[in-house]
Order: sequence, then structure tokens, then C-alpha cells
Amino acid sequence: STGHAQLTDQKFRSHYPQPHEPPVAPNPGHCPVEWFSQSPRDTSTSNRSLSPWIYESKQMADHFPFTYVQAKCLCDGCIQFNKDGPFQNHIFNSVAVYQSRIFLKREPCKYNSTYRLTPVAENVAVACTCVNPKRVS
Ligand SMILES: *[C@@H]1O[C@H](CO)[C@@H](O)[C@H](O)[C@H]1NC(C)=O
Ligand SMILES: *[C@@H]1O[C@H](CO)[C@@H](O)[C@H](O)[C@H]1NC(C)=O
Repeated sequence: STGHAQLTDQKFRSHYPQPHEPPVAPNPGHCPVEWFSQSPRDTSTSNRSLSPWIYESKQMADHFPFTYVQAKCLCDGCIQFNKDGPFQNHIFNSVAVYQSRIFLKREPCKYNSTYRLTPVAENVAVACTCVNPKRVS
């Protein structure tokens, strides 16, 4: 059950120190151009980035940690400014920056009802950045 999985995750967390996880924020559901006309400005890098992002909670079955946070880009383009203020410029793209992170994957043993934990590398989005679009040649 989910309850059991979370208990197990909590137990593992006390044995294997985990990186600090940034706070999860509600998804505004759109490219938050309005954040850039607010004063005083936010102090968080994720909100001040020209490719702003939020952190959302993810779950991966049979892995430790079971829950982890991942960056999600909020804009397809990037925030830019003209004389009228901030706007989303679709000439550029917001893309996620990934980092490899080690998880322990729970794999059942062939011969009995126990399992073993195998270290596996997974790419986790940690931030977003503004890039030139890929050129189609
Ligand atoms: C980013 O801005 C939004 C809207 O002002 C706010 O709700 C959220 O807490 C901010 N996030 C951080 C990490 O400061
Ligand atoms: C289960 O099987 C594995 C090998 O597949 C063995 O290493 C382990 O000791 C066994 N565990 C038990 C409780 O029998």
C-alpha cells in the first residue's frame, strides 16, 4: 500500500542523507509574466529567472527516495522586456537543466520473497534556462 511505501521511504531517508529539497509551489498554469512587473521583486532564483520554474513533487515506484522534487519550466519562450514592460518572447526557449541523481531501485530476488536495492542513475530536472532554439537545417 501507499502507506507502507511512505513508511519505508521515511526509514530509508534516515539511513541515506538526501540533498536539501526546495519547497514545492503551486503551478500558476501559465507563463507568469506578471511576476516581473511586481515590486518588490521576489528573492528566489526560480521566480527571478527569465525562464522561471517551480518545483513539483514526483513519485517513482520501487525507488528510494520514493518522492523527490523536480523543476518544471513555466514558459515555452523566455521573459524579456520592452518599453511596455515584461512579455514572453517565443524567439527563445525555456529548457530544463538536468542533473544525474542516484536512486536505490528495489528489485525482487528470484528465489525468495526478499528484494535487493540496486543503485541507478536518473536524470532529474533541477532548474530551467533560456536558450536559442534548435535550428532545423
Ligand atoms: C514565486 O512567486 C509566487 C507568486 O508571487 C509565490 O507564490 C511563490 O511563493 C514564489 N516562490 C518562491 C520560491 O519564492
Ligand atoms: C534470498 O535469496 C538471495 C539470493 O537470491 C540470498 O542472498 C538471500 O540471503 C535470501 N534471503 C533469505 C531471507 O532467504
